Amino acid sequence: MVLSWPYENVDDRLFIDGVSSMDIARRYGTPVYVYSENLIRKQFKKLNEKVRKYYPKTRLLYAAKANTNINILNILREEGAEIDAVSPGEVFLSLAAGYKPSQILFTGTSVSYNELIYLLDSKVRINVDSHSQLERILDIEVPELISIRINPEFGAGHHEHAITAGPNVKFGIWDQDSVDVYNRALKAGVKNFGIQMHIGSGIFDVGSYLKASTRLLEIAKKIHDKTGISFDFIDLGGGIGVPYKLEDDQINLDDFMERLFGHIKNKLNEYNLGSPEIWFEPGRFFVAEAGIILTRVTTVKMTPYKTWVGVDAGFNTLIRPALYGSYHEIITASKLGGKLKKYDVYGPLCESGDVFAHDRDIPEVSEGSLLAIMNSGAYGYSMSSQYNSRPRASEVVVKDGKDYLIRERENFEDLLKGQIMI
Ligand SMILES: Cc1ncc(COP(=O)(O)O)c(C=O)c1O
Repeated sequence: MVLSWPYENVDDRLFIDGVSSMDIARRYGTPVYVYSENLIRKQFKKLNEKVRKYYPKTRLLYAAKANTNINILNILREEGAEIDAVSPGEVFLSLAAGYKPSQILFTGTSVSYNELIYLLDSKVRINVDSHSQLERILDIEVPELISIRINPEFGAGHHEHAITAGPNVKFGIWDQDSVDVYNRALKAGVKNFGIQMHIGSGIFDVGSYLKASTRLLEIAKKIHDKTGISFDFIDLGGGIGVPYKLEDDQINLDDFMERLFGHIKNKLNEYNLGSPEIWFEPGRFFVAEAGIILTRVTTVKMTPYKTWVGVDAGFNTLIRPALYGSYHEIITASKLGGKLKKYDVYGPLCESGDVFAHDRDIPEVSEGSLLAIMNSGAYGYSMSSQYNSRPRASEVVVKDGKDYLIRERENFEDLLKGQIMI
């Protein structure tokens, strides 16, 4: 089995940056999320270096929705990330992790008046998703800066639910309303402006960004021509894909960024838009591959049709396979070199959809084996739940050959928390 750093095969056992997965499972129990701090840092550095090579005035905002453990937020802050937050809760956690308000861009949809009061009090930057949201903001106070999320009429992504632009999508303001919205903010006294799009997630093809950014920049030109506004930044959103299968290639970042920035620079010149900062909001690119879930096999059962392997993680722990049909590599951490057998891997929830893999070749398991569900660092814990009244799992980070508990496992008392018996 070919594993790449920080994952290693040591005597047929999975190690994560020098730490035995078996030891982690014994120490903290299962299921448990395990993250490699060094890989998160490496992913940030890699992308940062590539974007700056082609366009020095670039900022990387970590899309916190991928994983909001305060330690992960902190690691990325130390690397130089800023934050893309999509809820007041993410703003709160990012401030707690030491980000300055000016380093946080809030992009919300269906944002309530009270939430806007919190956001304006917090002094974070706001990326507006509707005309009425702008009116509510201006009713509370006139911020220095406003950014507008544009729907560039074209989206892309790994699943229908992960496409975030286009005619059937709720997000953003359309071309025909864009000038009015910026004019309204300008007249109210807003001084600085940004323009943003996010077309979807799990995108490998630079063509999608070229197409959507062409539309975004056409709209930016129209706004500039009609209102005189110059943009401080153009935010191209997140969505850079990561390989979920062992045999899949990493995205060729050099080729991707060279083509994307070549195109953007041409359009900025052609449209006289100056040289604004270019922002990106990657979430999974920084954290997906750096995280795995260790889960114990509780049951092996044969039916006339299949061999079912029951584990102690379910879609309460990782919902992506059930929600999007997503593929996650599964390996037998306790015996990497076992003979491959075909299994269906399922969780403990009372739902037929609680299945991680169908007809998958996995090194042979028995009850008690330890499995690793790979690429679970993004949208794992952050989309987890207590469904079926199962307490959430713990989180562990590995750094330079040592493991640290960064979130305690919930217990039954946590299931009662906040409930009021009348
Ligand atoms: C506004 C916004 N920015 C960034 C992202 C990050 O996407 P990804 O994790 O695929 O990079 C998302 C994800 O849905 C998003 O909604």
